[in-house]
Amino acid sequence: MTVTLPPDSPGIETAAGLLRAGQLVAFPTETVYGLGGDARSDAAVAGIYAAKGRPSFNPLIVHLPDLLAVEGLAEVGPNARLLARAFWPGPLTLVLPLRAGVGLSPLVTAGLKTVAVRVPAHPLAQALLRAFAGPVAAPSANPSGGVSPTRADHVLAGLAGRIAAVLDGGPCAVGLESTIVLADPEPVVLRPGGVPVEALAALLGRPIRQDADDGRPTAPGQLASHYAPVAGVRLNATMPAPGEVLVGFGAVQGALTLSERGDLAEAATRLFQTLREADALAGPGGTIAFAPIPDTGLGRAINDRLRRAAAPRG
Ligand code: TXA
Ligand code: MG
Repeated sequence: MTVTLPPDSPGIETAAGLLRAGQLVAFPTETVYGLGGDARSDAAVAGIYAAKGRPSFNPLIVHLPDLLAVEGLAEVGPNARLLARAFWPGPLTLVLPLRAGVGLSPLVTAGLKTVAVRVPAHPLAQALLRAFAGPVAAPSANPSGGVSPTRADHVLAGLAGRIAAVLDGGPCAVGLESTIVLADPEPVVLRPGGVPVEALAALLGRPIRQDADDGRPTAPGQLASHYAPVAGVRLNATMPAPGEVLVGFGAVQGALTLSERGDLAEAATRLFQTLREADALAGPGGTIAFAPIPDTGLGRAINDRLRRAAAPRG
C-alpha cells in the first residue's frame, strides 16, 4: 500500500504529484525523514496527525526551498535573518510570526500566531519542494512518541499502510532533528538539534538561552517521554548490569557503539539506528544502557534525546 519511490526524477515527480493530490509522502532530509503533506490543505494536515497518532495541539514544521519562500509566509526579524543566512539550507528551524492570509491550514500551527519553518539541505528534499512549489508540513515520519526515522525502512516499520509513499534517499547524514530557535526579539533555543547551540551563539555574538524544560508547551516535542524504544533505558553507564545491552561511546565499549573514536557527529548520525538495534537486542522487558556522552556541541542534542528516551512512559 505504501510505495517506495526511487531517488530520481520520476520518483520526485511522483512524490510531488501525490502531495498535490493531498496524499502523504515521507521524504529524506539531512536530519531525519519527514512525513510530508500540503501545508495549505486541512485534509492533508489532519491526515498527518492521524497517521502519526499525534495530538493536534502539537504544531508542525513547514518546509520551504529557500528564505525567499519563507518570507512569503512569515516575518523574518533581524536575528532570524542572520541565522537563516548562516545556517540555511540546513538543520535549523526558526519559529517566526505568521503573516495573515497566507493560506496555511490553521492545523499546521495548532492555532498559534507563530509558524516553525525550515529550509532543508538534502538534495532530494530540495528537489521535492521545488517540484511541488508549495509549503510542505512535515513532522518526523514516525508514530508519535517513537524513535525518529533515519532510513526509509524505519519509516515503513512505523507507518507502512498509513501513507501513500516514501521517497528513499538512504540514511540521513545528520541523524538528529533540527535545532529549533525562537529568534526575535530574544533568541531562545526551544529544542537542541543538528546545529550546535555554541554555533548559534558565536554567530549572534551573545549567549543564547535554552528554554527551561519546565513543562510549558513551547515545543511540545520537548516534553516527557519521547523517542521511546520498547526496552527500558539507563543513562551514564560504564558497565552493563546482567542482561543489559550496553551502547558504548569512546573509551566505554559496549555490545553496540555510537562512536568508537568518541566523535559526536558520528554518534548523532548513528543514534536512532543504534537505539532501534539495541531495542531489538534487549527485547521487551530488557534494558539498554548508554555510556556517558559529553554535554557540548552535538552532545547536548544527543543527551536531550537520550533523557527523553529514558523518561517515565506516559
Ligand atoms: O529535523 C526536523 O526538524 C524534522 C525534519 C522532518 O524536518 N522535523 C521534526 O518535526 O522534527 P517534529 O514535528 O517531530 O518536531 C517539530 C517540533 C515539535 O516539538 C513542535 O512542538 C515544534 O517543532 N513546533 C512547531 N511549531 C512550533 C511553534 N510555532 N512554536 C514552537 N514550537 C513549534
Ligand atoms: Mg518528532
